Amino acid sequence: MMGMVDYLGNERELLMIPGPTMVSPRVLRILAKPVLSHVSGEFVDGYVEALKLQNKLFGTEGTPFMLSGSGTLGMEAAIANLVERGEKVLCVENGFFGEKWAEIVEGHGGVVDRLRFEWGEALDLKRVEEKLSSNEYKAFTVEHVDTSTGIANRLDKVGELAKNTDALYIVDSVCGVGGMPVKMDEWNIDFCLTGSQKAIAAPPGTSMFCLNEKAWGAIENRKTPISDYYCNLTRWKPIMENPRGYFATPATGNVLGMLEALKMIHEEGLEARWRRHEVFSDAFKAGIEALGLGQFPAKGSEAHTLSVPKIPEGIDDADMRGLMRIKYGVIIAGGLGKLGGQTVRVGHMGNVTTNDITATLSALEMSLMELGYDMEPGSGVGAAEKILTTHMTEA
Ligand SMILES: Cc1ncc(COP(=O)(O)O)c(C=O)c1O
Repeated sequence: MMGMVDYLGNERELLMIPGPTMVSPRVLRILAKPVLSHVSGEFVDGYVEALKLQNKLFGTEGTPFMLSGSGTLGMEAAIANLVERGEKVLCVENGFFGEKWAEIVEGHGGVVDRLRFEWGEALDLKRVEEKLSSNEYKAFTVEHVDTSTGIANRLDKVGELAKNTDALYIVDSVCGVGGMPVKMDEWNIDFCLTGSQKAIAAPPGTSMFCLNEKAWGAIENRKTPISDYYCNLTRWKPIMENPRGYFATPATGNVLGMLEALKMIHEEGLEARWRRHEVFSDAFKAGIEALGLGQFPAKGSEAHTLSVPKIPEGIDDADMRGLMRIKYGVIIAGGLGKLGGQTVRVGHMGNVTTNDITATLSALEMSLMELGYDMEPGSGVGAAEKILTTHMTEA
């Protein structure tokens, strides 16, 4: 098509999906290094340091695990190790990823009780409390950020309820850790997991999770053996304590790439990083509102790591995303599951800069205009700029 620019060839695309996210050249340079022996001093020391930084990132003194695999490996590890056949698990669901837990629990012989909320609605803590007070659950699962809807659940508030129950509090923070506060120990979280490819801004392929003493107690007191082999955490624990040992070969490059990403996070400082994500999220969401687009998640419960705008009547979301990508080199994601066609998902986490926020809004505006949407050019970008400049003076 005349006038179309396909950015695929020039390596200048802006990847604004909710993971994988853009990886800093600093991390990419580490990934490009020659492969090291998995028992070399350089690798082992790097693994030890990465695991220490992981603890800080999760806000815990529990045991950190950094294994090859995606976020889903952490979900499976939680259930395969903590839950035995016939034991009950409460799955708290308010989106696509929350609903995944039931399948994993059933796959491992657990008995699922689903506590369902509408997609994008905040959790009703009273109902969570009522369920937990029955004390019939071995564990309960909660999403931090459900990436399908852009909702952020109040892990701290759920943690207050977790204090009064024997059930293990399992959290999926694949789309939270590194972009929003996670304080495992303070919030009574017993098992928390994340992936490498979102707010941590490393490539996909590394699964990270931490377990506290209560979770280890459940493993030690199992009546039946853990049936998984690779995913059996008692086999991995000695390696996490001393990475010079061997159980299965670690992805050496990914671990050292992760170390660099974790160093970058801690150089920025956790508080500063969480604040940056909050400001960028506010700016992006203000831009969306100024364009007259609604937002999917319940007001006041929006995640800082992504936004989920609703698509205006008469606009085809695939056309809009296509224009953004082909003409302006900005890639955003479509709606997930039943939200396909009604919403799009924009990730603004990890290494994102102010420029990325305004460029994405600008590409969105130009694409909407071309599709005939009635709006004032620059209104979204302008609304975002007001918030972004305030942040720059605050910094
Ligand atoms: C909230 C959430 N949980 C779990 C997952 C699964 O992670 P992975 O695709 O890395 O296995 C994702 C992936 O997008 C996610 O967003």
